[in-house]
Amino acid sequence: MIEFSQRLRALPGYPLAEIPSIKRRLIESGVDVIDLGAGDNDTPPPTIAVEAMTAALRDPAYSKYGFQQGLPAFRQASSRWVERRFGFRFDPVTETLPLIGSKEGLSHLPFAVVNPGDVTIVPEPGYQAYLGGSILAGAEPFIAPLRPENDFLLDLERVPEAVLRRAKLVFLNYPNNPTAAVAPLEYLERAVAICRRHDILLAYDNAYCDLTFDGYRAPSIFEIAGAREVALEFFSLSKSFSMTGWRIGFAVGRPEPVGALTRVKSYTDTGPFLAVQKAGAAALDQAETLVEPIRAELERRRDAAVAALRDAGFALEAPKAAMYLWVALPAGTASAAFATRALEDTGVVVLPGSSFGPAGEGFFRIALTVGADRLRAAAARLGQTLEATRRGELASAT
Ligand SMILES: Cc1ncc(COP(=O)(O)O)c(C=O)c1O
Repeated sequence: MIEFSQRLRALPGYPLAEIPSIKRRLIESGVDVIDLGAGDNDTPPPTIAVEAMTAALRDPAYSKYGFQQGLPAFRQASSRWVERRFGFRFDPVTETLPLIGSKEGLSHLPFAVVNPGDVTIVPEPGYQAYLGGSILAGAEPFIAPLRPENDFLLDLERVPEAVLRRAKLVFLNYPNNPTAAVAPLEYLERAVAICRRHDILLAYDNAYCDLTFDGYRAPSIFEIAGAREVALEFFSLSKSFSMTGWRIGFAVGRPEPVGALTRVKSYTDTGPFLAVQKAGAAALDQAETLVEPIRAELERRRDAAVAALRDAGFALEAPKAAMYLWVALPAGTASAAFATRALEDTGVVVLPGSSFGPAGEGFFRIALTVGADRLRAAAARLGQTLEATRRGELASAT
């Protein structure tokens, strides 16, 4: 018998592994399923990216290994975009790194900075790649709960001093998945100060920076004085350009952390497909024009879904960014029971808060991945499940 590693066994299971099979069964029996699970918009990728990719596919040069250097044009376009968007410059060669989606870079980063037994600070609820990458690298994750009473900000000031001394890496993600929280600049200043004091690398995951509403503008971590000393920032083309499956993102930071991640990656992968880098460069160069319709559509969806969920009996605030609604359940309701019941009874897929770690319990997540009418229909159906919850028909959270 092959025995698998302790690290593999330490990875938490996905609590609702049965969702895809329930969904398939419902669709086969003719149920109109509305899937608000994965953060994967129904909007198409930009035509300019499709055309650049098509041309690149016809040129055999783009079918070669990219290696970590990749396509200089993608590095340059990434660097230009950061400069236009935030006003500061990272060198395309030494301070920019193409990634096979930002997940790949975020999950490989712990290999570059932790020794076995070192601590990584991981938000919960949170994007599970931080936890998985930490465990696979042999780190000891310190789980920092994101709580509504703290506006879902990871409170580094409440992390015990002894943990901070052992910590090598902290993951921060604002605009946040799954809570849709945003981070004020004063908060980021405090976080950078703590990381500088303890020499902790700050991985700032900014995958949703362009999906913002009501005039809110999401900052880069590098807007904070001194952040260059400790931070590495991750950007993704997945959500801003509806290019989730293309697998393209990039990191920027000082040459030392960028170089360390590059070295890890040179042993684990060979960089994004060059044709995808070509398409990514074309999209980034037109970002201002291409992202706005996606952002505006998400804002319309947010407005429709928030209003419809309130009508259906849920209490929630309208988030300022990202593409999610993080909706509180009546006290004591198990989020997995709610999500299973919503799917079985009404054909709506939502993610239970517990699938983002135990601290996500008491909430469920809706991804704004379908149009306003479908979101309104989904909200009305979820209202039926809420009624069933109030009648005491669902298992309670333990
Ligand atoms: C917070 C966060 N970071 C990173 C990613 C990964 O995006 P990519 O497609 O670039 O790997 C996601 C995807 O859902 C995310 O929610």
